[in-house]
Amino acid sequence: MSSPLESLRSAGLHSVGQLDRSFILDIVSRAARFKAEPRPEPSLTGVEIAMLFLENSTRTRISFEVAAARLGARAFNFDADASSLAKGETLKDTVETIASFGCDAMVVRSPSAGAPQLISGWIGRPVINAGDGAHQHPTQALADVFTIAEAHESRGDFGRLRVGIIGDIVNSRVARSLIDAFEILGSEVVLIGPKTLMPSLGNDAIVSTSDNLDDHLATLDIVYLLRVQRERIDQGLIPSIGEYVSRFALSRERFTRLRPSALVMHPGPVFPGMEVDSMVADGTSSVIRRQAANGVFVRMALLETVLGGLVK
Ligand code: CP
Repeated sequence: MSSPLESLRSAGLHSVGQLDRSFILDIVSRAARFKAEPRPEPSLTGVEIAMLFLENSTRTRISFEVAAARLGARAFNFDADASSLAKGETLKDTVETIASFGCDAMVVRSPSAGAPQLISGWIGRPVINAGDGAHQHPTQALADVFTIAEAHESRGDFGRLRVGIIGDIVNSRVARSLIDAFEILGSEVVLIGPKTLMPSLGNDAIVSTSDNLDDHLATLDIVYLLRVQRERIDQGLIPSIGEYVSRFALSRERFTRLRPSALVMHPGPVFPGMEVDSMVADGTSSVIRRQAANGVFVRMALLETVLGGLVK
């Protein structure tokens, strides 16, 4: 069986399931070093990375670009709407054409679950998943784990943490990646949301589910709110925004019932008033902005680890 590093260097990072505890903690400590010295000696000079974003992104795309630039690599952007994909070219022809220009690796965001793995098989180069459908968003989970290690009083003793992930769990690639990461790290996870937006779990000792946020407020170390898409109302999965807010939003009143050390997290983009009150989102317990900023350091650590062997 290959180690996480061997599989990452040949195929890239497609899901958190490829990683183990020591790999995740190594990325966290490398990210901390990059945060202390954000403009290091370039270690990826000459490496070329194609950025294939088939869905919109602010945090993930720009932080990958900044991370690549800080390490001396070049990241080339692909505008799907201005490409021949818009004329009907297939994804396979598109990525094989881009690969023929000689890029060393790709960073891919796609609405289709499994696309990064498929593309890596087509081009025979590492592909880093920047979010694929409702499947995985592994670098978001790594940025979140780093943020917790840095900001929570437990200082990365993940076995002591009780994490609540709240919202549209079943459609969330962030939730899937976080559940995998917290399982590897030994944290207890409770998934909280409407029953209509909850996945069915097997006999999982670490993960439980609930449709009552109020039952858990006093025991959570991490309150991780997910974005709720308005189309869930059109699909009849949530009766109304008001109903959702009254049961699952982190209001100012609910905030007062959290532990003083609890961290408020959200992957962004945040729609204030929907998942979280705007004063809570901007308050001192919130690390939402820090999660995005830490994405640069975690992606530097990951790019250097995965692509370091490609420097010519
Ligand atoms: N959290 C996240 O993936 O944000 P973007 O869609 O802005 O990249």
